[in-house]
Amino acid sequence: MQARKFATDVVLCASFGDSGKGRVVADKIKAGSYTHAMRACGGGNAGHQFYMSGKKITTHVVPTGALFGVRSIIGPGCVINEAGFWKEVADLQRFKPDILDHIRIAKNAHMVELRHLEEETGETKIGTTRQGIGPAYRDKHARVGMRAESVASFEPLLVDIYEEFYRGSEPIELLIEGAQGLGLDIAWSPHYPYCTSSHTDVGGIISNGVPHTSLRHICLVCKPYDTYVGTREFQDRSDPILDQIADVGHEYGSTTGRRRQVNYLDLDLLTRSVQMSCATHLTVNKMDILQQVGVWKVRVGSKVADVESENGFKNLLENRFPHLQINYNYSPEHS
Ligand code: IMP
Ligand code: MG
Repeated sequence: MQARKFATDVVLCASFGDSGKGRVVADKIKAGSYTHAMRACGGGNAGHQFYMSGKKITTHVVPTGALFGVRSIIGPGCVINEAGFWKEVADLQRFKPDILDHIRIAKNAHMVELRHLEEETGETKIGTTRQGIGPAYRDKHARVGMRAESVASFEPLLVDIYEEFYRGSEPIELLIEGAQGLGLDIAWSPHYPYCTSSHTDVGGIISNGVPHTSLRHICLVCKPYDTYVGTREFQDRSDPILDQIADVGHEYGSTTGRRRQVNYLDLDLLTRSVQMSCATHLTVNKMDILQQVGVWKVRVGSKVADVESENGFKNLLENRFPHLQINYNYSPEHS
């Protein structure tokens, strides 16, 4: 049996989400020759933003690839809210009227049901996005969940990942659009239970039926500072610079509108993410925010270290991760 030509690139956030994966994914799709894009975990909790022809676009569960006409699959590791999906499709049709031709749903993806949403109507203990994510994954694993294949409105979009990835002969180039961040992984977050309910790591991606030998580039994304949304105490409230970074960086959730907590970049978490994902590339987004604030610091252990300048920051990363190809991005209005 001849092996199919298959190459997979992965875009993951190194910390707690909201690092600008949407932009990195959009840039890679424009520059690359992907035949497929896929979302591999999470659901309506995610919010990816990027600019297309000058317009700001937000996606939640629909892969960014669909907006660029790439065959885009919502993978088996995702959980989907039916009404939310159709609303998102209607919103995106304003930018790409034929978008539905490019969206497919794995028949073994799971559903966020009404009862799951109803469990999260009030404030939740850990400050979830209230999209029914935890209850949906709980029921998936308790084997009382509902799969996409039993949803009538999804019928024309359903695909079988085995048929899609293993049965044909044409070469596949797949771009995986990760969700949330490695710091929110259900097993590997250093802060359980302040995490999400899916595997956001490379292992979680592979279990979507992706051939593990196809992995090519593992691209991590971060900002030069960290943000986090949830009830865990994350921001040092005695440091006014952190509020300034939140203001200049417009750090509000794209799904919930909540103000994100801000802290200096956690170098230990970044290092762990680079190592555990076997990263090949790192993109640091929103560099202009710290340029404007004019303060460059990182966290190492429980200490905050001053790296003094943008160059000091870049040197630190380049010395610590000499094997990574590192790119620095500035906000679209600055580039
Ligand atoms: P859940 O995923 O809605 O259950 O939320 C669990 C935790 O993960 C909360 O702290 C959320 O704010 C956080 N979270 C979930 N999805 C995202 C995301 O896409 N970006 C940032 N934080 C997220
Ligand atoms: Mg987001």
